[in-house]
Amino acid sequence: RQRVFSGIQPSGNLTIGNYLGALKNWVAIQEENENFFCIVDLHALTVPQDPKVLSEKIREVAAIYLAVGLDPAHCTIFRQSKVSGHAELAWLLNCVARFGELSRMTQFKDKTVRGGADSASAGLFTYPVLMAADILLYNANLVPVGDDQRQHLELTRTLARRFNHLYGETFVVPEGMILESGARVMGLDDPTVKMSKSSKSPGHYVAILDDPDVIRKKIRRAKTDSGTEVTATPDKPAITNLLDIYSATTGRSVPELESEYAGRGYGDLKKGLAEAIVETLAPIRERALALLDDPAELDRLLDAGAERAGAVASEALGTAKAKMGLG
Ligand code: TYM
Repeated sequence: RQRVFSGIQPSGNLTIGNYLGALKNWVAIQEENENFFCIVDLHALTVPQDPKVLSEKIREVAAIYLAVGLDPAHCTIFRQSKVSGHAELAWLLNCVARFGELSRMTQFKDKTVRGGADSASAGLFTYPVLMAADILLYNANLVPVGDDQRQHLELTRTLARRFNHLYGETFVVPEGMILESGARVMGLDDPTVKMSKSSKSPGHYVAILDDPDVIRKKIRRAKTDSGTEVTATPDKPAITNLLDIYSATTGRSVPELESEYAGRGYGDLKKGLAEAIVETLAPIRERALALLDDPAELDRLLDAGAERAGAVASEALGTAKAKMGLG
């Protein structure tokens, strides 16, 4: 039995990328592990959010966690901001992390290419340290995430090792769990960028809560490549992405899908893909909408989760503080 920790930011509409890269995997491994699945609302604050929208999105993420099949009997589901240890350990780790290594984080560089680093929040800069605190606070051994979190996980491991070296054995050095299939879903309108829930263009992503007709329309309009053959080759990044999504959604291999669609063209591929996505997401959407009808029940679940998480977190925080001389 392993201790599992992962989280999603309530910073937009959760996408099929979040489902295939993270949620689906969490559900698959929940029964054999002890799981902490967090709604990382403090992370969402690193870029501007409308307070009212943010509070709605927090509940929406909770509803999606349950609707995809996470079982509160196996998983502690909670909000990061309700367990103060996350912010406290982040401070301690901020004093262990180095300015230089944070400056090299590619997500920080990507998120500041337009506005420039000068106007970015300091929270955006130290974002990966808060993420390290999330994981280390639970002494998690396993962190199931999509491919874009690879560098953040490596920093987490570095900070755990450095802390242990400076102050004595304290934290478990966690392993990432990144699957081959679905770990890097690209934008439907641009297969050269990662699909992101914070995109302003709705044609960029399929949201987990999109209505079936919206899903069909978005897939129909998805960018394709020149040519007609349905093949996952480097000269066809858009078709490769559609095949990867298809494969991750259905569990069928890319070569199998290529031969099914041989000689049939992009239109047929899109029809088949849209139906496969609808088949997967429609029941999730229905369950999530039903759960959102009873926000008080969602809040109760989150409060119970925060209480359980808080007990584990306060012990680890106490140990870390004591090791640093704050006992
Ligand atoms: P976030 O909210 O951006 O994404 C949540 C999860 O979804 C995965 N993901 C994707 N997978 C495949 N294709 C995509 N296009 C795609 N987009 C997102 C992400 O890899 C992630 O697993 N920093 C994290 C949140 C976080 C966290 C943590 C994760 C905070 N603390 C501790 C693990 C452990 C993030 O921004 O995820």
